[in-house]
Amino acid sequence: MRRNTYKEDEILEEPFDFKHLLRASVYIKKHAGKMILAMVLSGLGGITMLFAPMIMRRALDVAIPEKNTTQLYLLVLLLFGAYLASVIFTTLRSRIMVKVSQNIIYDIRGDIFRHLQKLPFQYYDDRPHGKILIRVVNYVNSVSDMLSNGLINVVLEILNLIFIVIFMLLVDIKLSLVVLAGVPFLMIFMFWIKQKQRKAWQSVSNKNSNLNAYLQENIVGARITQIFAREDENAEIFRELSGRCQKAWMKAVSYSTLVWPGIDTISVLVRAAIFLFGLIIFGQGNESLGTIVAISSYAARFWQPIMNLGNIFNNFINNIAYLERIFETMDEPVIVTDAEDAVPMKDLREGNAKDHGQVVFDHVSFSYEKGKEVLHDVSFTVNPGESIALVGPTGAGKSTIVSLISRFYNLDSGRILIDGQDISKVTLESLRSQMGIMLQDSFIFSGTIADNIRYGKLDATDEEIRGAADTVCAGEFISRMKNGYDTEVKERGSLLSQGQKQLISFARTLLSDPAILVLDEATSSIDVQTEKALQKGLNAMLQGRTSFIIAHRLSTIIGCDKIMYIDNGGIVEAGTHEELLAKKGAYYKLYTAQMEDLASA
Ligand SMILES: Nc1ncnc2c1ncn2[C@@H]1O[C@H](COP(=O)(O)OP(=O)(O)OP(=O)(O)O)[C@@H](O)[C@H]1O
Ligand SMILES: [Mg+2]
Repeated sequence: MRRNTYKEDEILEEPFDFKHLLRASVYIKKHAGKMILAMVLSGLGGITMLFAPMIMRRALDVAIPEKNTTQLYLLVLLLFGAYLASVIFTTLRSRIMVKVSQNIIYDIRGDIFRHLQKLPFQYYDDRPHGKILIRVVNYVNSVSDMLSNGLINVVLEILNLIFIVIFMLLVDIKLSLVVLAGVPFLMIFMFWIKQKQRKAWQSVSNKNSNLNAYLQENIVGARITQIFAREDENAEIFRELSGRCQKAWMKAVSYSTLVWPGIDTISVLVRAAIFLFGLIIFGQGNESLGTIVAISSYAARFWQPIMNLGNIFNNFINNIAYLERIFETMDEPVIVTDAEDAVPMKDLREGNAKDHGQVVFDHVSFSYEKGKEVLHDVSFTVNPGESIALVGPTGAGKSTIVSLISRFYNLDSGRILIDGQDISKVTLESLRSQMGIMLQDSFIFSGTIADNIRYGKLDATDEEIRGAADTVCAGEFISRMKNGYDTEVKERGSLLSQGQKQLISFARTLLSDPAILVLDEATSSIDVQTEKALQKGLNAMLQGRTSFIIAHRLSTIIGCDKIMYIDNGGIVEAGTHEELLAKKGAYYKLYTAQMEDLASA
């Protein structure tokens, strides 16, 4: 498992592998028609511009010496026409390509996001979220530009180069050879600088990714930062990371600023050579002024496509690295996935709900990390409609047991059966849509309170939402808020108290009407009074569904049909509250200790 932090650069596992480009072709195939059209338009634009020097030569060598004004006007008109046509063609091309490139972004992002949502929790525990974000946002942007414009430009620049050479040769072969003699010098210069540039830009991208990772972590952890008064230390780390970005950037730019002066020098030398050869060495009178001007104008154009090809090549190398990271994310194994022959689980609410929702653990063993078993050979049966409490010390495996019922992880061995169906053989969607899970940390999404309650049942009416909220005692505080159910709660529900968040997620769960209910420390942040009031709603919620309740506050679970005491990877004792008290075992100890605490408080 790769645990890359903001402190280290991401390392490329297989740099410059063109097979990524091949794989990316699925995203461009469907735009092939538009891309070819864009290419033709661009080609036409380029070719029209190449007539300009020829028109100029005609003007200089024929129309002006002959004082033929009609012809001169005609040539000016032609020149203007060539420019105009070229502008129109290139604008059209840009419009088409913006669309294509945005479509590619849309498709790749859609695919990554869909995949990210399926990835196991472990994936998110293992890497900085900022680095995941930068892949979905920045890398995809950059890559889509290469896949759309980059590919077209390669073809165009090569054609452009060929056409410039052809046009140049048509005008004058000897002078063209003078221009071509400059190519080796350019090649050597480019080869040197491009290599430097590529390394420098890769470093920029790595440093940015690190900065992003640190920034993201700090935004999420801002509260903790302030609690521990770590602002100064963090600012120092940030300054350091930011400084590295700056340094990397400056270095990359300093190479880039060398490029044009280098090219210009070669270009000026070549043009000087054209005049030298044209006017002196090839003999006076052999070359017309128009020819020399035309050739030197082609020569000025000649470097552009070579330069552009160099840039494109560089971009390709960088973007193929990005592609690698994008595909790596897409290939990240979805550990928990539907079996090939998975069938939908039958509807547990169908018919008489009372007879549905039996949960059986059949010799279940499970470990998060190989060799460290968290559950060992656990077996139990929960009958339809029963409420089961799981108690036990911290880290005992209570949350693990309930997360296995939703199949968030695969078992090492054993089976879990719901109404006789092995949950590893049914589709995840059909399984999870029948489960209602509430955790201690009730996640609130951005949007209104009503949106949040509606999260699990999108077609719920306003009445249903109000009904659910009232049942769980959330109606009162919601109606006291400024806009009631339409109050915007902002990301993560920053407007709400922890207990209010829990009440909202109770309403959300109730509304989704799950057949099996899991409450993992779901009432821990609700005050005792509200909890008492909630108890009625809670009882209504437990009615007719199998439920698992985990609570450290034992008052919540006394009424449960069965209590299981979990410790050391297994069930230590099980029974009703009374039975367990009579047993005077682990539960008895826990209970009496809590009662004493309450009494002394
Ligand atoms: N994602 C994970 N990766 C690796 N180990 C984990 C993971 N989640 C839990 N564990 C380990 O599994 C064991 C059981 O954890 P679990 O969360 O089920 O405990 P719990 O009984 O719910 O405790 P608590 O009462 O504190 O919520 C712990 O030792 C914990 O360190
Ligand atoms: Mg837990």
